[in-house]
Amino acid sequence: MTNPKLDRRIFLVGLGASGVALAAPALASVGPLVEVLKDPSCGCCGAWIDIMQREGFEMAVQNASWETLSQFKATKGVPEEMTSCHTGLVEGYVIEGHVPPTDIRRLLAERPDAIGLTVPGMPFGSPGMGPESEREAYSVFLIRKDGTTEVFSHYRAA
Ligand code: CU
Ligand code: CU
Repeated sequence: MTNPKLDRRIFLVGLGASGVALAAPALASVGPLVEVLKDPSCGCCGAWIDIMQREGFEMAVQNASWETLSQFKATKGVPEEMTSCHTGLVEGYVIEGHVPPTDIRRLLAERPDAIGLTVPGMPFGSPGMGPESEREAYSVFLIRKDGTTEVFSHYRAA
């Protein structure tokens, strides 16, 4: 014979647990703040920003003309041949283009003496640039303070 009172208690405990699970994404969104400068007409920038938000980063987005944007990149130390569309700033580092959230987390954990990370151009299948299942091979580069770059991580073609 089942006890209806007990069943109800179990049900409420279950609800309580799911309430906690629902609260978790809100907590996760208080992640590191990324300030992004982008061209107002850039659609792929928006797609990357959405992915970053879903990954728990706090995104502050500002639109700028292409000219202001390229000046900003130069001022921040992104070598011209290593540029992409949008430019982000997170905890003193520059994030240029469609850098995967995992690489940004690794950067913030390792804290190298560097300018930041870049995914030059806009490789297909990088976050915000179409399905990963059709990804072309690309690398994430670490920009050193002297302007040189080295491979930080590599993503193989799907
Ligand atoms: Cu883009
Ligand atoms: Cu972009």
